[in-house]
Parts: sequence; C-alpha cells; structure tokens
Amino acid sequence: MQANSSTRLTTGGTPLRIAMQKSGRLSEGSIALLREMGLEFETYKDRLFVSARNMGVDILFLRDDDIPEYVQDGVAHLGIVGSNILEERRPAVDRLLNLDFGYCTLKIAVPEESEINRLDDLTGKRIATSYPEALRRFLAEKKIEATPVLLRGSVEVTPALGVADAICDLVSTGSTLRTHGLRAIQTVFESQAVLICQPNMKPEKSVFVQKLLMRAKGVQDGRRCKYIMFNAPRSALELIKQRIPACRSPTIMDLADQKFVAVHTVITPEDAFWEVVESIRDCGGSDILVAPIEKFIR
Ligand code: PRP
Ligand code: ZN
Repeated sequence: MQANSSTRLTTGGTPLRIAMQKSGRLSEGSIALLREMGLEFETYKDRLFVSARNMGVDILFLRDDDIPEYVQDGVAHLGIVGSNILEERRPAVDRLLNLDFGYCTLKIAVPEESEINRLDDLTGKRIATSYPEALRRFLAEKKIEATPVLLRGSVEVTPALGVADAICDLVSTGSTLRTHGLRAIQTVFESQAVLICQPNMKPEKSVFVQKLLMRAKGVQDGRRCKYIMFNAPRSALELIKQRIPACRSPTIMDLADQKFVAVHTVITPEDAFWEVVESIRDCGGSDILVAPIEKFIR
C-alpha cells in the first residue's frame, strides 16, 4: 500500500521502537491510540513485532512487566505501560503523558468472613502480593507492621490456601475479588496507562518522540472535548459569556433572523458538559448541536 506522505515521519536512521502490552488490560487501548496517532499497521493474535507501513516506527508486543526495562535500557524508545508497574519498579524512564485508559486500582482485600476490617487490623498479618515494594512503602507510610508475601501470580487464592491473611492486588472490574469471596478494605494507589520514554535519547529520536507526543495529546484532547453550537437571542449574548466560562470567547455568527446569533465553542472536560448545556438553555439558548472532535491540537 502507498504510504500517505502527509503523515510520513522518519528519523532518517533506524526506526523508532514503541513497546506495548501483548495481551491484557492495555492492549486494545494502546492499539487504538497508536492508530489514531496516524500509525498504519496490522495486528493479529500472536504478533510479536510489526513495522508501521507509513512511518519509521516498529511496534514491539511485550509482557507488560518487561516494558519498563526495555525502555530504560534503550531497546525501545517509547512504551505504553500501566503506572502500577512504574510505582512498583521505579524504573529510570521519563513519564510523558497519562493516557486516560487502562484504569485499575491496587487494593488490599480480605476474605468476606475475615475479622480484618481496617488498616490497623493488618498488624502482624501476612499480605500476599505481586507488588511488594509498593506495599512495603504504603505500610511504612501508614506505620502498619505487616508482612508482604511475594507471589508472581494467582494472589487471589492465597487466603483460601492459608498462605496469607490478606492480599494486595490490582482490581479493575472487581470480578476476581468477587469470584474468590474477597472484599477490598483499602486502596493503595490508582493506576492508568502512561506513555513513557527512554531518557537521554539521541536528538533525532527525541525530535520524533516530541512529534508523536503532540499527536498523542491531540488525540486525547479530541476525545475529551466536544464542539458545541447553539442559537441564542442576540440580547442574551452578554449574559451567556458572563455566566458560562466555556462560552467566554466563542465564535459568533449572524443568522438570517437578526435577533438571533449562532454560537460555536469547544467544551473541555473541566467544563462539566451537561451543566454547560443546562446553563445555555437557562440563558435562552436553543437548537444545541454537539459534535465530537477527532483531534484537538492546542
Ligand atoms: C490483575 C489482577 C487480577 C485481575 C483483576 O491481573 O492480578 O487477577 O487483574 O481484574 P478484575 O478486577 O477485572 O477481575 P492481570 O491479568 O491484569 O495481570 P497483571 O497483574 O499481569 O497485570
Ligand atoms: Zn503483568
């Protein structure tokens, strides 16, 4: 297929490598983001590696736990990884952007029937986890003396086996906890997908990364913001500008009926969309049209 020259980005040298999760919580969101950033590539289930058709980028599909090291060691220039892994490992990578998907929470949970209800009740107990460092830091901060028990997987079965009194594990939908008769008693941290990059990159790679970062932000702002258009009595315009911060500096267009104007503006997430709509109606606005924004480059 012919590459689209308007989106062609190269470093003139070796391709830029982006590491993402092969299969799991972040895979779907990572692929969607990369495609919306203009990368054209194929994927299939057992993929390990793919080159973008239209720019000098290779995508590596890895276990999520391996991504920080790949980026830190310079095998990959960019990575998409859960902040949970960054919290645990504290790798020497630069965090570029929170990506607003792949949300999950590291939580401490106990069996439904357990007498442990509060953080203090964990004193002297064993807590099974794959996040020993994050857990240790959390317990130290809360001044709780409990013993982390390190496990690489299947942490949720340990209370039933008598190996631990509590677990500290990631929760996203909550179904794993429910299936194993566990209830959460404490949040340790919240996690989401993050774009990371290798520190001290060669200048030509760094320029490329900045361009990709602008694209990622543009995609993200586009997803979060809405384009809104409505009609309002010309006499209500000042009130609308005063009362609705999102409409402070809108585009105003004349309508055939001189008594009315069309107002166009962008609503950002901070504006609380439905409240803005209600305020517009309260101020006499009508025929409110809302359009999605594909990309928004600020
Ligand atoms: C995590 C965690 C649980 C599950 C919780 O594992 O260890 O098993 O997700 O999700 P739920 O609340 O939707 O049931 P995951 O498969 O993500 O593996 P990871 O620890 O390697 O990220
Ligand atoms: Zn993992």
